Amino acid sequence: MSIRHFGLALLLVPALQAQVTTTTLHDALLAARADRAGEPAVAAAFQQLAKEHGTPLYIYDQRYIQGQAAALRSAFAPRFPKLRILYALKANTNPAVIGLLRAEGIGAEVVSQGEIETALKVGYQGTEIMFTSSSKNPAEIRRAIELGTVLNVDSMDELGQVQAEAHRQLKQARISFRVNPGVDPHTIHQINTGIAESKFGLHLQGGLAFKAYAAAKAMPEIRIEGVHCHIGSQITETEGYTLTATKMMTFVKELKEKLGLKLDFVDLGGGLGIPYTDGQTLMSPEDLAKALEPVWKAGVATLGYEPTLWLEPGRFFVGGSGFLLTRVNTVKETPIKTFVNVDAGFNTLMRPVMYQAYHRVRVIGRTQDVQKVDIAGDVCETGDILAEARLLPKAKAGDLVVILDAGAYGFSMASEYNARPLPEEVLVEGNAVRVIRRRADFPELFRTATSAK
Ligand SMILES: Cc1ncc(COP(=O)(O)O)c(C=O)c1O
Repeated sequence: MSIRHFGLALLLVPALQAQVTTTTLHDALLAARADRAGEPAVAAAFQQLAKEHGTPLYIYDQRYIQGQAAALRSAFAPRFPKLRILYALKANTNPAVIGLLRAEGIGAEVVSQGEIETALKVGYQGTEIMFTSSSKNPAEIRRAIELGTVLNVDSMDELGQVQAEAHRQLKQARISFRVNPGVDPHTIHQINTGIAESKFGLHLQGGLAFKAYAAAKAMPEIRIEGVHCHIGSQITETEGYTLTATKMMTFVKELKEKLGLKLDFVDLGGGLGIPYTDGQTLMSPEDLAKALEPVWKAGVATLGYEPTLWLEPGRFFVGGSGFLLTRVNTVKETPIKTFVNVDAGFNTLMRPVMYQAYHRVRVIGRTQDVQKVDIAGDVCETGDILAEARLLPKAKAGDLVVILDAGAYGFSMASEYNARPLPEEVLVEGNAVRVIRRRADFPELFRTATSAK
């Protein structure tokens, strides 16, 4: 990995001296966020990044990630004496990013063996990992039990498979069940996971979750440690969480009274939203902690013991840290629209196409001639539009465009579709830039193809 210091040169460029308003690259990222990407000093920072690293380029801001971890901890730790915070790796699986969160004392929540192996590589012990997936394969179950990872079981079928594998290994499998609480957190359909129609979890409805605990209790190969739920992603209001916490604590009480079970933890999942538009206000970690506190305390009082509260956000930690820098290939006027064709597409950032997600866009170094444009991707699909009908300063071929809030579900969802190698990822550490994943090259596109000559 290479580390390069940035910014000083920027300050010394005579032509720019008069307008220099940024001192570090971190500040340049903040300025772009604050819609000051047109300023020459800010533009110079992004131009240098593009020159050194090429485009499309994922840029992450270390300080932002550390700040989010601190904000979550300081909102929750004073109110919840027994607290464990995990990071949902799926949001951004770069080992350097995960390592930052591990250094903040945050655990790992994973959804596949690949993510287990990534967490181990970063330095987590298997016992520090929580493995959630509604469809685990036998190798994944085997590996998780070997490592002493908590398996978050999603069905009775899976419970049977976990029991059989634990028996084979002469071990006790550590488990929780993912419960479907039947709560709608009012987010978009594709990321709404706690409603009754969802494929995830064992329903509280119809006593399915209760039956699972009763069955597991009778299995000597199973050690029940907790209960889990995750109602969705990009949640902006507290109500879904408080309703879920109420249902979960009532369920935990039922488990104690009817089965004599005392759980170590109650995991309320992730899902904390971030602002994707200018001026958007939404639930803060402080708002959420304040709203959950009375529900949790009332639950603990009737329960007679205090489980550890687990939380497992992904997007919240990394979403706003990420900037996708892309270059304009061409600008095309049609009778209907103007397309700014860039060198990133839904192979680079899937969210706009997959979820109709809105990402702010800034044109680097331009402020004049605002016009309505679509930012169109370079994938050969009609639907490959990264941003639609945006009022932006006029861009020309060769200009840079930056897409904000691309740190979560950006690179981790990227693909090689259209045979485009995966982009580079860099981490901005104050004024230094570190390559944390180099740009893939063309031979890597066919590295696993057995018929390539
Ligand atoms: C089980 C589970 N936990 C945590 C998360 C993280 O969600 P978010 O990134 O919205 O915080 C997800 C995301 O889908 C999930 O499925």
